[in-house]
Amino acid sequence: MKQPSTAVEVVNLRKFYGSHQVLFDVNLTVAGGEKIVICGPSGSGKSTLIRCLNKLEDHQSGTIRVLGTELNDEIDNINEVRREVGMVFQHFNLFPHLTVLENCVLAPMLVRKQDRKTAEARAMTYLERVKIPQKAGAYPGELSGGQQQRVAIARALCMKPEIMLFDEPTSALDPEMISEVLEVMTELAQDGMTMLCVTHEMGFARKVADRVVFMDKGSIVEEAPPSEFFDNPRHERSKAFLSQILGH
Ligand SMILES: Nc1ncnc2c1ncn2[C@@H]1O[C@H](COP(=O)(O)OP(=O)(O)OP(=O)(O)O)[C@@H](O)[C@H]1O
Ligand SMILES: [Mg+2]
Repeated sequence: MKQPSTAVEVVNLRKFYGSHQVLFDVNLTVAGGEKIVICGPSGSGKSTLIRCLNKLEDHQSGTIRVLGTELNDEIDNINEVRREVGMVFQHFNLFPHLTVLENCVLAPMLVRKQDRKTAEARAMTYLERVKIPQKAGAYPGELSGGQQQRVAIARALCMKPEIMLFDEPTSALDPEMISEVLEVMTELAQDGMTMLCVTHEMGFARKVADRVVFMDKGSIVEEAPPSEFFDNPRHERSKAFLSQILGH
């Protein structure tokens, strides 16, 4: 897929779990190369929204277009989208019985049909990029949380995605490991990746985000460049949220 100028387009998205509605007419357009930080209180629908973007969750109404392709229920469509959209989770989700290198080559070999040699060479490039090539032969259980998360980022990048989704990638990490992961994410942003990051790392948001999207109770309440959002939030709910997480 060629990256069109609009990477993601969400129109009037509604999502229910059973009869419980968790997303209410969400609209969001993300340009190619844009970096979006999504924040908001627990249960506001942040994870659900980004999981809808790579079909980890179904939506009930509205449309989602990723790189110009509208998401539907056909398997080819789902596979096409997942090839282009990488995702990094809070809890790394590496395969524990596979080495770091094997974790990285699995999907490119199965899905992109790369031969092992090409896949391994590419994996090493990305492991170098996340500053962990020396751990290629180690198992995830032998790595620190920060190292595992950097491997998870490298693994996602091995698929050469056009878009990267992050769901609280640092919130399970000890403080000293947060910065090493944020550093890798910042470099990725500087390289021009389209990124949607659910995070409450507000320093990262200020530095990297083109836009901050604030969600509450299943809706986008406010969308603004970080300087505006942090220094001059318009909505009461954004103000309350910011004063809670920034402690003033
Ligand atoms: N698999 C599920 N089945 C039923 N309800 C769910 C499921 N996953 C999430 N929900 C509900 O959907 C709503 C939004 O949840 P979501 O996980 O998207 O919130 P969030 O903003 O990511 O919260 P957090 O900051 O705690 O991660 C919540 O009310 C939650 O209870
Ligand atoms: Mg969440």
